[in-house]
Amino acid sequence: MSGDVRSRLALPEGFRFLREGDIGQAFRTGNEIMDRYVLRDYHRWSLLPNDLVVLYEIDVRIAGIIEMRINLDHIVVDMVGSNALVQAAGVGTKLMSLAENFAKQLAIGEIRLDSLDDVVSWYRLSGYAQYADRYYDAELGCWLTPMKKLIR
Ligand SMILES: CC(C)(COP(=O)(O)OP(=O)(O)OC[C@H]1O[C@@H](n2cnc3c(N)ncnc32)[C@H](O)[C@@H]1OP(=O)(O)O)[C@@H](O)C(=O)NCCC(=O)NCCS
Repeated sequence: MSGDVRSRLALPEGFRFLREGDIGQAFRTGNEIMDRYVLRDYHRWSLLPNDLVVLYEIDVRIAGIIEMRINLDHIVVDMVGSNALVQAAGVGTKLMSLAENFAKQLAIGEIRLDSLDDVVSWYRLSGYAQYADRYYDAELGCWLTPMKKLIR
């Protein structure tokens, strides 16, 4: 995908791209695997080509974060988490809706992700379905379930 994909995307109210100045803020999902990664890691990923890291803010606090990679025919959601330190309802759902919003803006028809066991049922509620065998990720030390959703 050529050019900075960010410049082609409009962000709904409450969302903004992660900035380097954010990395000192308090953020924790409560999930041990997700919390191995801190905002500094998210910022590093955001510098990679076609990688987007977006925050959802409530009262200037980070309520949630999503990291996704934009490919030609699908978007991969690598990380999504709500901030257990803020405790607002509906944040995870808002973040997943943003991925769909981006897919529509970029005319991309599919979102994929590899789900931790704890959240497979949560993704199912949002219309994601398993498309390949569950596998063991040796780096993370856990099982993951490949899931996807078609976006119209
Ligand atoms: C998974 C996560 C992003 C959901 O975000 P959230 O802001 O808590 O969820 P929302 O408020 O948008 O979701 C609302 C609904 O999902 C349900 N839900 C939340 N977590 C769930 C889970 N792990 N499994 C099944 N349902 C779940 C809630 O009960 C709620 O249902 P209700 O509306 O009937 O009351 C959040 O719990 C989180 O950050 N978890 C730790 C990190 C993680 O596992 N990320 C995914 C990595 S693959």
